[in-house]
Amino acid sequence: MKNDELTRRQFVHTAAAGATAWAGLAASNAALLAGATDKPAALGGAPVHQGDWPGWPQWDEAWEPKIVEVLRSGQWSPAGDTGGPVGEFEKAYAELLGAKDCVATSSGTASLLTALAAVGVEAGDEVIVSPFTFIATYNAVLAHHALPVFADTDPATLTIDPASIESRITERTRAIVPVHIYGMPCDIDAINAIAKKHNLAVVEDACQAWLAEYKGRKCGTLADLGCFSFQNSKHIPSGEGGAVTGMSQELLDRARSYHDCGRAFGTHQGQGNFSRGLNYRMTHYQGVMLQQQIGKLTADTERRRANADRLTAGLREIPGIHTVRLPENSRAVWHLYAFRYNPEEFHGMSRVKFQRALNREGVPCSGGYSEQYYDGLLDEAINSRGFQRLFPADRLKAYRESFQELKGNQQVCNTTVALFQSLLLGAERDIDGIVEAIRRIQAHSASLV
Ligand SMILES: Cc1ncc(COP(=O)(O)O)c(C=O)c1O
Repeated sequence: MKNDELTRRQFVHTAAAGATAWAGLAASNAALLAGATDKPAALGGAPVHQGDWPGWPQWDEAWEPKIVEVLRSGQWSPAGDTGGPVGEFEKAYAELLGAKDCVATSSGTASLLTALAAVGVEAGDEVIVSPFTFIATYNAVLAHHALPVFADTDPATLTIDPASIESRITERTRAIVPVHIYGMPCDIDAINAIAKKHNLAVVEDACQAWLAEYKGRKCGTLADLGCFSFQNSKHIPSGEGGAVTGMSQELLDRARSYHDCGRAFGTHQGQGNFSRGLNYRMTHYQGVMLQQQIGKLTADTERRRANADRLTAGLREIPGIHTVRLPENSRAVWHLYAFRYNPEEFHGMSRVKFQRALNREGVPCSGGYSEQYYDGLLDEAINSRGFQRLFPADRLKAYRESFQELKGNQQVCNTTVALFQSLLLGAERDIDGIVEAIRRIQAHSASLV
């Protein structure tokens, strides 16, 4: 990672603190440079945004009595049990999504590990994944000693390009993991059709897509299983936490068994009392935290959507800014609000300079994900004793070389700019300020490069 780039979590952490610092800078600039209203702050103009942005996560004291009640009860673990606060949350979350069932887990990563196990991913298999994602998507596949094979990213949608999937299927392919990145639904019908043709499972990585919708149905109910994260930065957070959802009771029973040490459950009785599984259970105090945030999640989602629509309408008017295309009849939830910029329309301005100029306007932003497959994780995996035993050398060589084919993803990684979700909880004038900041940067780009 270059020094100028922030990881998403660093970004979340620094956004709130940075906003205060920017506010101070903004006020002094504004006083000194009154009159230079159209100039970008990076050229001495007054920053468009002054003051703090909404912080995250947000706490409500009204939630405390129920949490304290659980803490005092001493009933903190749901081992072998489907009741209590975790069970209640599972029911409520399944209902919210229109899912058959929900299995709460200890993290989003644990939900991916559980779902991959439930659909039968085994050592030596291949799983086709979206490359433009948080590293946990790759790691969950690797942890099953399977190879994460990358399909390309569509620069128009920032999600997996269905047209790039089929050529990557081999006799070892077992599943496809599309990611509804930043809360933007993938074109799942096209992905399910490919999976059906080749008898593959589809696990949705919906870790950033709580309440996102595709053709009237919620993400996490669109394929074999769906996975969610409730980590601190997420729209419904409990510090750590996750869930597996879906429409197949049989697969969900397998998932429940796997996340509870392999205990026999429902339709999944295994060969004895236990089958293979791990402990990925959520605690009851996480369950009660989540249960109480469901109403807030729904209300916040509507606010983010309204502000995202306003932002999109404004950004579409600026030359060189490409807002994302969502699949027809779908609704995003904007975990990050991402757009791409075309450097040619900005006098060749680098993304780092673009980001810096936007930061100077009091608008915190990040560059999204980089081409992480070059960062060493996959080299470490394919050079390991285990992977070298499991896969033929020529397959691993071709696999490593295939990263170069990900031209769409490369373009996305180099030209995306992302705004953290809590900015979308701001007032309409704050959203208009973001549009104005980018308009100024574009208009003055010749002096900013
Ligand atoms: C797309 C995606 N997948 C998986 C995960 C893993 O979730 P967790 O951090 O809860 O393990 C995350 C969380 O950041 C994510 O954003």
